[in-house]
Amino acid sequence: MIVWVTGGAGFIGSSFLLRQVPRAPSWRFVNVDKLTYAANPRSLEAIATRDNYRLARVDICDFDALDRLAAEEPPDVIVHFAAESHVDRSILGPREFVRTNVEGTFHLLEIARKHWRPSLGADLRGRVFHHVSTDEVYGSLGDTGAFREDTRYDPSSPYSATKAASDHLVRAYARTYGLPTRVTNCSNNYGPRQFPEKLVPLMILHMLVRKPLPIYGKGANVRDWLFVDDHADAIWTVLERGVNGETYNVGGHNERTNLEVVDTLCALVAKHTGVSTEELLALKTFVADRPGHDLRYAIDASKIERELGWAPAETFETGMDKTVRWYLENQAWVASVQSGEYLKWIETNYGERG
Ligand code: NAD
Ligand code: TYD
Repeated sequence: MIVWVTGGAGFIGSSFLLRQVPRAPSWRFVNVDKLTYAANPRSLEAIATRDNYRLARVDICDFDALDRLAAEEPPDVIVHFAAESHVDRSILGPREFVRTNVEGTFHLLEIARKHWRPSLGADLRGRVFHHVSTDEVYGSLGDTGAFREDTRYDPSSPYSATKAASDHLVRAYARTYGLPTRVTNCSNNYGPRQFPEKLVPLMILHMLVRKPLPIYGKGANVRDWLFVDDHADAIWTVLERGVNGETYNVGGHNERTNLEVVDTLCALVAKHTGVSTEELLALKTFVADRPGHDLRYAIDASKIERELGWAPAETFETGMDKTVRWYLENQAWVASVQSGEYLKWIETNYGERG
């Protein structure tokens, strides 16, 4: 069984590979990754020399390169993580999002269609195209309610619009060509190895050097937070026990305002470093809001829980504690991402906010 994992050097893909490569020695994992600024090959050191793992540096927008790889390593399963994933970047420059998230997904679907030949009645047993998506495709909630699998799509940012487009393409390939697809829409992930442009690692790293903690608007926006390994396990559960053509929402039952998240992180960093919580809380700085900022996301994950028996292992408290400790104990990883592209990006886009 050959499994392509696209975007396996990114945050969630690396959690998935680090867990599954050792657990499934009879499966061969091919990490199909362009290695953009968001990838960190250091994240995969623990599995890099395993016999059942290989990194193929390929851009998913390059169909010929994918086709050559498919001749060499014909995929039985494709788990598609690769994407441009940061909302703020998508607002400043949407082009790369359309390219990778829409066109790139299209090329992978074409690879699956060409090599699996679903409309020619090929035997599709064991074949799955698993598309990893986000709850942001559903848009914003008011004070009540939660996203269900049948909630209407209403994306707000260029990022979520491109993810919505890719979800639609995946479902269209299932209906039109009989491609065996599964889609998961997950809430905000946090945990080790997340690139520090996202809220949680950005705040932790700013605290360590006493930089201002930039909170958009009033900090009242609500997200549902899920520990990354729980998301990786949910995807594995869907691969093992899910049904083709189905969508599963994945969430952590951890709705928090951004201010609550930052306050929690201040308390945890203080606990583990000995700095006073008050000194860290005083770094909180309210900055201009994100345009089109969705107010609230919440996930109804009852389908995956009921039908497939998945449930998150971490609570918000245990997961955030693990995350803070990981960033404190992995300064070499942090230093490796705080160079080159990342620093240029921070200077250009976050400079005036410290
Ligand atoms: P990430 O930005 O950390 O990693 C993305 C990975 O994709 C990187 O390794 C990058 O090199 C690779 N990549 C980007 N463009 C590529 C291209 N053209 N060809 C090949 N590889 C390319 O992202 P992440 O946070 O790990 O998210 C992974 C997936 O999960 C994305 O599809 C994202 O939309 C989805 N998702 C993320 C979250 C979250 O909270 N981070 C939540 C739900 C869903
Ligand atoms: P983010 O980590 O970018 O994830 P997403 O936009 O995909 O939900 O942001 C999470 C929340 O934190 C979102 O409401 C925006 C907010 N935020 C800040 O307040 N300050 C920041 O510096 C960042 C990066 C995000």
